[in-house]
Amino acid sequence: MKQYRIRGETRLTGELCVGGAKNATLPILAAVCLNESESIIHNCPRIADTFVSIEILEAIGCRVKFVGNTLTVDSSGVFTHEIPDDSAKKMRSSILFMGAMLGRMQKVNIALPGGCRLGERAIDLHISGLRTMGATIHECGDKLICSARKLRGAKIRLSMASVGATENLMIAAVKAKGETIIENAAREPEILDLARFLIGMGAEIYGAGTGTILIKGVKKLKSTSHYIMPDRIVAGTYLVATAMTEGNIKLKNVRTSDLIPITSRLIGMGCKISTTENEITLVAPPRLLALPRLITKIHPGFPTDMQAQFVAALATANGRSLVTETIFDSRYLHAEEINRMGGDIVVSPDKQTFDIQGKEQLFGTTVTSHDLRGGAALILAGLYAEGETIVRNAEYVERGYENIVDNLTRLGADIRLEVVTLKDM
Ligand code: EPU
Repeated sequence: MKQYRIRGETRLTGELCVGGAKNATLPILAAVCLNESESIIHNCPRIADTFVSIEILEAIGCRVKFVGNTLTVDSSGVFTHEIPDDSAKKMRSSILFMGAMLGRMQKVNIALPGGCRLGERAIDLHISGLRTMGATIHECGDKLICSARKLRGAKIRLSMASVGATENLMIAAVKAKGETIIENAAREPEILDLARFLIGMGAEIYGAGTGTILIKGVKKLKSTSHYIMPDRIVAGTYLVATAMTEGNIKLKNVRTSDLIPITSRLIGMGCKISTTENEITLVAPPRLLALPRLITKIHPGFPTDMQAQFVAALATANGRSLVTETIFDSRYLHAEEINRMGGDIVVSPDKQTFDIQGKEQLFGTTVTSHDLRGGAALILAGLYAEGETIVRNAEYVERGYENIVDNLTRLGADIRLEVVTLKDM
């Protein structure tokens, strides 16, 4: 087990370069199977989830080279449609190998996915969409056995704008026979990044980033190279950390237009923000202001992946805030941990709304991360708190934050990553 040890009340100041987006990387690392050729992926984050994707790719026969942040995958040697259970169960986005392998081999056997526990996290839309495209899918124990003589284009209307279902269907449609139209598609910037990658390998995709995506199936694809978009959630996390610690920061290699749902709220909390296309500067006020109402929504609304970090910040703000989570049904455990540090957050009985009375002081103690963003939020609370905070289950945070200890240390934080054995506990 790993944990972070943080001595709080330090001010974050300085500059950081933001790396590639996890949620763009993972679908792309499934889609590389399609082209039976080489894909060179630049700005690929060295995070735990990337290494799980590499594990899967190598197990099915891809040759992978990862040097610095450039990942080269040669998918010409894919020889099996069996996705190893262990790897599939480690992360939710392994489900994207369904669309990719149906497109590549017309079959795939894959365990039901694991990942952060944020509620039910169903995959019914992935399954029904792929069935509409001609796939046969049986559930056998905790495994999905999928095949299709030939995927065919179809018109699919998603009952909710699921990011993963949109990606899975887009990937599957690239080599399907005929046209696929996805209606009520997710519009997150990562969808557009995946489309750009697929178009680079010869796919015909129109409308990605809007609610309707048209994919015209093609027979042959080619090798490609791609630069992963900057991680807007990592950028947002460092902005909130700075905002909470009365700091100032310049972030480089960001797409500031993608950050508007986050920066607009930080401005409302009293931060001064200036931007160019790819850089953002934030200067924090002496104390953050509360936000009367914050509700997570699909893009371009306020992202659920920033909810926990904002809950941490609002727990220290001046006044009362109400935050409502609408995307996941169980993304609230960080609030209970922040309360252990002296926070005053009342979680509604349905676990969706946080009634937060900001406290001028939080106090260091031992807290536990239950998921990736919740873990990040606890680090932020630890940076603010008086005394020492230990954040357990650092493994969750390592799934999505590259070099977080080095980056925060460079900005002036006092944070260490420790490996603990059962004996130490
Ligand atoms: N849903 C269904 N049925 C489906 C698919 C989704 O009911 O078939 C529900 C889910 O249960 C959930 C909601 O729809 O309540 C949203 O799920 P979605 O499919 O949009 O999310 P995802 O693809 O599982 C991605 C990100 C998440 C991010 C969400 C929402 C990746 C690898 N993951 O997940 O990122 O929160 O979109 O923006 O792209 C994170 O980075 O910490 C993270 C959890």
